[in-house]
Amino acid sequence: MKISKSLNLGLLALAGLAFACGGGEKAAETTAPEASTPAAAPAQEISLEEKYKDDPIYIKGIEKIKASDCMTCHMVERKIIGPSYAEVAAKYENTEENVTMLAGKVIAGGAGVWGEVMMAPHPSISEEDAKDMVRSILLLKK
Ligand code: HEC
Repeated sequence: MKISKSLNLGLLALAGLAFACGGGEKAAETTAPEASTPAAAPAQEISLEEKYKDDPIYIKGIEKIKASDCMTCHMVERKIIGPSYAEVAAKYENTEENVTMLAGKVIAGGAGVWGEVMMAPHPSISEEDAKDMVRSILLLKK
């Protein structure tokens, strides 16, 4: 899906380039540029995952998150067992202090902030990995 999307964008960009370089009023009359705009429309409602997919901090953290069990209880934009990462990002400022505090909760487990359900502890995750995970979560501001 990602591949076809970026391919689409690439093709659009190419088409735009060809159009721009082709120049001349004739081209403007014959190639009806509006035809290509509906395909570009989804860019208006991109998901947070799409929005940050090229951010190195996001990439590093989300890889570690996916390698762990986090996604069984958390989704990026929908609450399941735990809060969505977008909700967490909206609640906490992206400061080093909050990164350290939340990384501590990932390792030790947490409860009482979002409801009655508790987050299982993850004693085998290093503090560095937990921080990378949290950094990628706190990045997810709309
Ligand atoms: C068994 C389900 C479960 C798993 C697995 C899980 N979480 Fe959670 N997580 C929760 C729940 C439930 C909460 C809300 C806890 C609360 O109310 O304090 C939570 C809260 C959080 C919070 C916010 C903590 C706060 O105090 O606001 C972060 C950040 C978080 N999880 C990250 C992670 C990461 C990273 C992983 C993977 C290493 C992970 N979680 C794995 C269930 C889970």
